[in-house]
Amino acid sequence: MGVGIIGCGNISSAYLRLSKMFKGIEMRACADLNMDAARAQADAYGVRALSVDDILAAEDIDIIVNLTIPAAHFGVSRRILEAGKHVFSEKPFVLSVDEGQELLDLAAKKGLRVGSAPDTFLGGAHQQARALVDSGELGQITGGMAAVMGRGMEMWHPNPDFFFKPGGGPVLDIGPYYVTNLVQLIGPINRVACFASTPRKQREITSQPRAGEFVTVETPTSMRGILEFANGATVTLNTSWDVHAHGMSPMELYGEMGSIFVPDPNFFGGEVRATEGAEPRELTAFDHPFGVPNEEHNQGMMANYRTAGLADMADAIAQGRPHRCGQDLAQHVMEVLLALLASGESKEVVEISSRCERPAALSAEQARALMT
Ligand SMILES: NC(=O)c1ccc[n+]([C@@H]2O[C@H](COP(=O)([O-])OP(=O)(O)OC[C@H]3O[C@@H](n4cnc5c(N)ncnc54)[C@H](O)[C@@H]3O)[C@@H](O)[C@H]2O)c1
Repeated sequence: MGVGIIGCGNISSAYLRLSKMFKGIEMRACADLNMDAARAQADAYGVRALSVDDILAAEDIDIIVNLTIPAAHFGVSRRILEAGKHVFSEKPFVLSVDEGQELLDLAAKKGLRVGSAPDTFLGGAHQQARALVDSGELGQITGGMAAVMGRGMEMWHPNPDFFFKPGGGPVLDIGPYYVTNLVQLIGPINRVACFASTPRKQREITSQPRAGEFVTVETPTSMRGILEFANGATVTLNTSWDVHAHGMSPMELYGEMGSIFVPDPNFFGGEVRATEGAEPRELTAFDHPFGVPNEEHNQGMMANYRTAGLADMADAIAQGRPHRCGQDLAQHVMEVLLALLASGESKEVVEISSRCERPAALSAEQARALMT
């Protein structure tokens, strides 16, 4: 399928570069409000630079990837659907439950698909965790914890303002990775509670080119939440951009017969560990292509298969099956994240009304079938 991109900023290079690993999708054009940004990416990756209107009208584009900033996601995704094209959005895919529902209804009316990042839960490590949970060897998952904490984004992103405005903050920005992975592992969530705070009302940008400028913070940057799953499991979720150092794991799940330690759901790979009772469990080798380190990062070689979710959606359209980074999943995760923020304000427990199926597991064989 022909793929176009709207939003040629920081993350667009990853999509343009990594999509070449996958069958069934071909990047053909990119667009941005800023034509210089579109032209720069078009030149670098050999695609056409188009205006937003022209990419929406382009006949050789079937799916448009929405890589604009969170505040623009809903409006841009709606225009993509109205233009008769499937949309795959970066997270957070909308900023309210009503916006999500409007996209869901529009897509259903037009017979189009909406997909959303994150797709890191398709990574080898998270699929290994999924296989272990599904094997029943841990028994039912009854509890767990997840944590993603650091100092924030003003140190590295060239334009970090959006991270500190409504739609940003660690809950909506980084929370999708953790809550999506929890839902694929445990299932949907019934209700949440949360305490949230904003320790620093102004943050100084230290990244170039805007070092020394200040951003006014308009969304909580620290929150401690509790999630109650439909199966009865309760999981604590810590997200913060006000922490220098901590000793918490990214994710631990506690089952009736053992525990599982899941690596960071912001990434595709990493080491999965588990126990049998309290003793270390010997795990059989899990030869999954989306866990193989393929890129040099500051932390060393890491697995990065971003666009796997987009490739799965294109394949799903061709096969007439549900796609894994599906709209019901994205809508449920958004409702949970927005409910955490609402609970942080009201100090009340918030019930979650949407439900979703767990996305289908992605076996090593199915993952290989998506690759060139
Ligand atoms: N940067 C990352 O590492 C990263 C990682 C994962 C996900 N994301 C997500 O991807 C999205 C984009 O992030 P980014 O870091 O690339 O942002 P960015 O600010 O670097 O780029 C956004 C681009 O979108 C363009 N844009 C904004 N509104 C638009 C509109 N209405 N129509 C057309 N173009 C528009 C801007 O001109 C800009 O070029 C965000 O939702 C972010 O959460 C980013």
